[in-house]
Amino acid sequence: MARLYQQGRTKMRRHKVFLFGALALCVLSLLQYCKALHHMLMLRELYDSSVNLKTLGFLWRGNVHSEMRPVPGPRTSDTDQGNAEVGRRIGRGGEDPWGKEQPDSGNVNRMTVTLPDPKGPWGELHKRSFHLRDDPTTFFVHSKSGAYCFREGTEMAFLNDDSGQRVQAAREGQRKILHAQQEELKSDQEKSARGERLVKCMCRQGWHGPHCGIPTMVQHSNLPTKGSLMPRMVPRRVINAININHEFDLLHARFHELADAVDLFLVCESNFTAYGNSKQLHFLHLLLNGTYNYVRHKILYIFLDHFPKGGQQNGWIADDYLRTFLSYDGMSRVQGVRPDDVFLINDADEIPAREGILFLKLYNGWTEPVSIHMRKSLYGFFWRQPGTLDVLSACTVAMLFAVYNGDGISLRRREYFSMPGFRNYQRKSGHILVQWSIGSPVHYAGWHCSWCFRPEGISHKLISAQNGDFPRWGDYIEKRDLNYIKGLIQTGGWFDGLVGEYPPTDPKEPMYAPKYLLKNFQLYRYVLENPYA
Ligand SMILES: *[C@@H]1O[C@H](CO)[C@@H](O)[C@H](O)[C@H]1NC(C)=O
Ligand SMILES: *[C@@H]1O[C@H](CO)[C@@H](O)[C@H](O)[C@H]1NC(C)=O
Repeated sequence: MARLYQQGRTKMRRHKVFLFGALALCVLSLLQYCKALHHMLMLRELYDSSVNLKTLGFLWRGNVHSEMRPVPGPRTSDTDQGNAEVGRRIGRGGEDPWGKEQPDSGNVNRMTVTLPDPKGPWGELHKRSFHLRDDPTTFFVHSKSGAYCFREGTEMAFLNDDSGQRVQAAREGQRKILHAQQEELKSDQEKSARGERLVKCMCRQGWHGPHCGIPTMVQHSNLPTKGSLMPRMVPRRVINAININHEFDLLHARFHELADAVDLFLVCESNFTAYGNSKQLHFLHLLLNGTYNYVRHKILYIFLDHFPKGGQQNGWIADDYLRTFLSYDGMSRVQGVRPDDVFLINDADEIPAREGILFLKLYNGWTEPVSIHMRKSLYGFFWRQPGTLDVLSACTVAMLFAVYNGDGISLRRREYFSMPGFRNYQRKSGHILVQWSIGSPVHYAGWHCSWCFRPEGISHKLISAQNGDFPRWGDYIEKRDLNYIKGLIQTGGWFDGLVGEYPPTDPKEPMYAPKYLLKNFQLYRYVLENPYA
């Protein structure tokens, strides 16, 4: 008995030793990994300009135009010819077709927007190319003490480099001073921890790092390389690709939110619904009648004029194809793109917060691919759902082409690790690439607002929905009834009869909704406050 007990104990001890050994090994390899990561990042900046632009140019031309054409739909092979024909047909409309559109503009049914006259001032909008240029905005300035500071994130009093700013600093009042002192204390601690002698900036609330350009949503993220972030001398250009149906208010919110962080919006519209029915080009109509004039110079219009084969039977094909076409056609029309520019793809109801995207634009040293933790809500920002929606949305243009073959839908899937080009790309980049997310489960870095329409818009979305996400509520006439839909909005209920159990929200809470909507509260009240409560 005693011997048995003894044996048992020895066994236990052996197990313990083994476990401890394994644990130590784990810790060691983790440390190794961190060290390697740090090292590699120090070695070289992310894709400095020496990355072979020619290789990349070749990738595009080769891939996009020949092998990587979208999955052939019935008309893909003659797309170019087809487009030319479209242009010609539209030509009959006269010199100023969109001008004539306006008297009808209130009547959606009679709206007959086709593509603009190729000889008109707009040219062939859906074939134009866009030349990316460097953003001349001075995001960073040198302070008197020689620090290099992100202008918006730094206390004006600290910069104090001209009288105008001093006046503004005075207006800022006492409130910020206390915070600045705290922030300075913190950055002093950071300094001594890294043993550096660096003139640091004095950050405003919400901004971090020695240059005050790291927003809280990055500071509190799981980015593994926070220690080696550096402001760039020349900002990256950011390309934001989206498909649009009738999310026009959210589109205003996006444009205003991202106008200075994004250099180019690729906006794709189809004359087919996701279900495969014919549909008007509403976005084009708005683009032509001046609704988006404040950002028109940053929009490239993409027209999807066919429906993918099999999309009617399997709606997911149609769903994916929209993103594939958007990325292929869009990126093939962008000139002057650099490997370290950023490609960001969203659904129309996913709006990234400006600060996170601006960070990607202005800093070196983050890894990719990048996802975004978004606040989730239904019917409006008033029904907030628990947790966040964390969607893979961004990577460099280099990664888009080297790993994802230029296809935005692949980026949105979480499979980068097993993509055939990944290992090679990682090796060439000289970094260990790990996915990270802007924001965190408790720090929103954007907004996902599902079904955020007036009741008519929801009904419309039901009818247009793809054929694959079952049950397809648009197939039930009683679910499209406006009074029924109002009831859902009122209670936060869902089409399956479940009633939402959402906590109360307050428009004053941080990150409640995109800033532009809040600023124009009356105009967008229907998504900010429950209209039927
Ligand atoms: C553009 O058209 C839309 C929809 O027809 C209309 O509501 C809007 O007022 C028009 N905008 C301008 C600037 O004409
Ligand atoms: C969409 O536009 C293309 C090109 O103008 C045309 O050939 C096609 O018939 C249109 N489809 C629908 C459903 O309107």
